[in-house]
Amino acid sequence: MPLAFDKLHPTFAAEVGPIDLRAVHDADTLAEIRAGMDEFAVLVFRDQRFTDDEQLAFAQRLDGELHRRTGAAALGKSRLGDEALADISNLDERGLVQQASDRRRTYSLGNRLWHTDASFQDPPGRYSMLSARVLPPVSADTEFADTRTAYDTLPDEMKERLEGLRAHHSIAHSRQTLGFEFSEAESEKLKGAIHPVVRTLPRSGRRSLYVASHASRIIDWPVPEGRLLLLDLIEHATRPELVYRHAWRAGDFVIWDNRATMHRARPFDDTKYRRELRRVTTLDIPAPELATAAR
Ligand SMILES: [Fe+2]
Repeated sequence: MPLAFDKLHPTFAAEVGPIDLRAVHDADTLAEIRAGMDEFAVLVFRDQRFTDDEQLAFAQRLDGELHRRTGAAALGKSRLGDEALADISNLDERGLVQQASDRRRTYSLGNRLWHTDASFQDPPGRYSMLSARVLPPVSADTEFADTRTAYDTLPDEMKERLEGLRAHHSIAHSRQTLGFEFSEAESEKLKGAIHPVVRTLPRSGRRSLYVASHASRIIDWPVPEGRLLLLDLIEHATRPELVYRHAWRAGDFVIWDNRATMHRARPFDDTKYRRELRRVTTLDIPAPELATAAR
């Protein structure tokens, strides 16, 4: 049975069903999901009861190699024991809700800034896949912004100005904006990476703005001018009409394309309520066999 894609926003994001992703192994269905990602950039699947291993396996079936060098890895060993499985929770190593002063909590608060996953690495993250396991009784939403439409709606003069520009992305930069400092040893592991400000998505040919809070400066530009340009672009890309806000339900599984969106977590009373999600992110490296399969 072909999948139904129901739009959640005028320019991107769709809910997909009916499907149990744990059971999806056939090339045609995987290709259909990839084609949906090309069109919508954010896909929401309801009632997906993944175990950690099933989530890791599905991510590899869909999009290839997993990213294991996300920022938290520099802070110490993951509570979950696998660096490919990002612990998007407010729990400490004992499984209790983190205290307000917990260093990992302060670090995680950076997810409330608009960002793209692992853009401070090379290769960066391509698809992120977030599985909602335990949710608080209050809203704790995630917002997504459509950076393809953001690019399309720039004035021509700005598009010309951005041509060929590159930005340096650093998690030390985005965390410093909230007052979080890495130690020297941690900083050694997090040197940052340089990426084009405008990306062209290989399968769809569409262009997107690739900036957000990790972007620290424009290469070959004075720092203040570069930061002001980045702030203008982020402001343009996150206008309310370009934002889809996802209200989580337990069992939700959301896949987004980090090359075509930016996202941020919205605040809730995180020292009171438990919130536990798991994220797997794939490496943004060419995957010719996957690209062919999606056509
Ligand atoms: Fe994120």
